[in-house]
Amino acid sequence: MEQNQDKLKEIISHSKEYGFIFPSSDIYEGLAATYDYGQLGSELKNNIKQYWWKAMTQMHQNIVGIDASIFMHPKTWKASGHVDAFNDPLVDNKDSKKRYRADVLIEEHIEKINKKIEKEVSKGKKRFGEAFDEKEFRNTNPNVLRNLKKIDSIENSMKKTLEENDLEGLRQLIVDLEIACPLSGSRNWTEVKQFNLMFATEIGSVAGESSRIYLRPETAQGIFVNFLNVQKSGRMKIPFGIAQIGKAFRNEIIARQFIFRMREFEQMEMQFFVQPGEEMKWYDYWKSMREKWHKNLGLGEEMYRFHDHIKLAHYANAASDIEFNFPMGFKELEGIHSRTDFDLKQHEAHSGKKLSYFDPELNESYVPYVVETSVGLDRMFLAVLSASYQQEILSDQSKRVVLKIPPALAPIKAAILPLVKKDGLPEIGQEIANELKFDYNIQIDQKDSIGKRYRRQDAIGTPVCITIDHDTLNDKSVTIRYRDTMKQERIEISKLSSILNKELGWKSLLEKLN
Ligand code: GAP
Repeated sequence: MEQNQDKLKEIISHSKEYGFIFPSSDIYEGLAATYDYGQLGSELKNNIKQYWWKAMTQMHQNIVGIDASIFMHPKTWKASGHVDAFNDPLVDNKDSKKRYRADVLIEEHIEKINKKIEKEVSKGKKRFGEAFDEKEFRNTNPNVLRNLKKIDSIENSMKKTLEENDLEGLRQLIVDLEIACPLSGSRNWTEVKQFNLMFATEIGSVAGESSRIYLRPETAQGIFVNFLNVQKSGRMKIPFGIAQIGKAFRNEIIARQFIFRMREFEQMEMQFFVQPGEEMKWYDYWKSMREKWHKNLGLGEEMYRFHDHIKLAHYANAASDIEFNFPMGFKELEGIHSRTDFDLKQHEAHSGKKLSYFDPELNESYVPYVVETSVGLDRMFLAVLSASYQQEILSDQSKRVVLKIPPALAPIKAAILPLVKKDGLPEIGQEIANELKFDYNIQIDQKDSIGKRYRRQDAIGTPVCITIDHDTLNDKSVTIRYRDTMKQERIEISKLSSILNKELGWKSLLEKLN
């Protein structure tokens, strides 16, 4: 854990040093839980967006994208349930004065029990060696079974109190489990209170209830209110999806862990409209499609796991998270939710407009069910950055810091390095850049020794360096050096474009999704 916190600190400082992420309003000492993406960060962020957008819209004939506004009619949020139910149950520790989400305190307690189970299993593995049957062990070991039973009982109690909005019961559970404040170690807890997460502001010059509007807490509602506009203007047939990328705002009380939980963040959401009764089929389909999309980046299969929700949001009949192994441990990266017809029906009721679809194949009208995929763009950024960040000791004992960013997502795709700043080499570099710049973000770097320049490009994740030397003048070839393997090869300038395309073009990433 200590080591992982150190890794997060290293990533934060690396991000600032190389222009990926700066604290917002840095010259004023920053603003809590808000960050600015710098010159390389915004490139990486844009590339992640493109990977998602292309995978959704270009790779699916039946998914289209929109860009709805952040401000919406206030009735939207009454209809969606956010005014009444978008709350976090919060509890304060009286000694440390720190505020926590009550359900998160309990989930962290469950995680500790889970760790005990895993410890027992690894002890078993050591004890029985080759003969170890893990499945059998998990099904029969008394300590494992006792702890599983404990988890089951805690989860059931938590689910019940949350569903019944029984805040006193939730507090009692924290007390009964003897959960202590991680900071003070004290068990001196206040009452649990509900806190609405939406930011409100006034529209126009007249203050008062009637002019109160909200900054959207999710992008999804912009899709729901446009469901019929898109369906009719695009002549879409069910099943079909609407995708959107945009800012969302939540007044998170516990906003920390860098860009993991912020008050202003971006979501990439897709609502898939289906025939009622078919939602579970599509829910399973999207779970596996989204898992494939993530794993396709090559950050490591073991970095992901699914977590089915115990507490379902007010709109869902099934929900699962794709969790990622961040430096702080496994945490939610994406949510996949079966939202039933809740949102469309609510908008029908509050707007008085029909939001049903006439199905020509069934010859009947219905309000579609919705399966949603919702991934945080900033969390994707942190996932890519933290899994890519590596410190290596090389054969000459020197250290290199390298960002092994998936090549198609890298902020700078290729660095062009003329060996010296004379003899016509910079001019050849410029010519190559002029050709490649239409397809890729290219950087020409002529300062310092070639070794230093390689290190600088490794540190910002540039997948290939192209070195121009005196031989280039005669053989019209350059040396390509690959970031991950540090291997070098000599190739003709005329072949550069096709090699880059194969190594880091969008097709190289997207074709594996087929
Ligand atoms: N429309 C459904 C929805 O908004 P959610 O689980 O509340 O569901 C979806 O959010 C995703 O948005 C999360 O999985 C996470 O990646 C991202 N997200 C949520 N709150 C966030 C925050 N405060 N900071 C950064 N990302 C956040």
